[in-house]
Amino acid sequence: MSARGHAFGIDIGGSGVKGAVVDLATGTLTHDRIKIATPQPSTPDAVAGAVAELVAQAQWDGPVGLTLPCVVLDGHARTAANVDHGWIGTDARSLFAKALDGREVTVLNDADAAGLAEDSYGAARDLTGLTLLLTFGTGIGSALMYNGTLVPNSELGHLVVTGAEAEHLAAASVKDREELTYPQWAERVSTVLGHIEDLFWPSVIVAGGGISRDHDQWIPLLTNRTPVIPAVLKNTAGIVGAAMAIDSGIAP
Ligand code: BGC
Repeated sequence: MSARGHAFGIDIGGSGVKGAVVDLATGTLTHDRIKIATPQPSTPDAVAGAVAELVAQAQWDGPVGLTLPCVVLDGHARTAANVDHGWIGTDARSLFAKALDGREVTVLNDADAAGLAEDSYGAARDLTGLTLLLTFGTGIGSALMYNGTLVPNSELGHLVVTGAEAEHLAAASVKDREELTYPQWAERVSTVLGHIEDLFWPSVIVAGGGISRDHDQWIPLLTNRTPVIPAVLKNTAGIVGAAMAIDSGIAP
């Protein structure tokens, strides 16, 4: 973090590598986010190159926080559900540090970053108890927050529900691929949420991911027990959470 309370966050996703300077007092970006298309295949070296390009474009020379759509433990990616499998076992922290001239980097799971951001600045900011953020995108990401503390790498998108992984049943990409209507998709989401809430009993579920922009078309259709509220930070949550993780000790 810089002395002025600004930090740089980068959100690495299947289609874009997005980054910006974040004002940590407000959780807002200080400029339009910079986006570079995720290289295909999204191998570690190719993505590290895109990250270096993005940081150079931003002319940022301080520490950088980054998200990956992977379980991240001690800076190492441990899974790769919707990204090149070459990430599994990669020391992402060292890889990015090397690509960024040896500067300090922090790496965490993308949904965990979004959960931190929504918990501090967004939909869950005034809530106590157990909050669950789910991101509906290519897959389903999850972040469990208890009174402001993140329980990292929860990976609830891989919970098996009625014989299939939750994200294979109810990710936003599945809605598109199978051309489901909102009522059809909401029924699947309700099934997934029903299983999750029976196991974890969160006080509230925050729905994130691009499809949360259309929340009025599907959140009212959900039939599960726990209140579901839309995320507030939308497409900046990952960037903001990545920036928050720098120096904070919250990245696993
Ligand atoms: C991955 C998670 C990730 C989520 C959203 C899942 O497939 O396993 O680590 O948070 O997708 O990108």
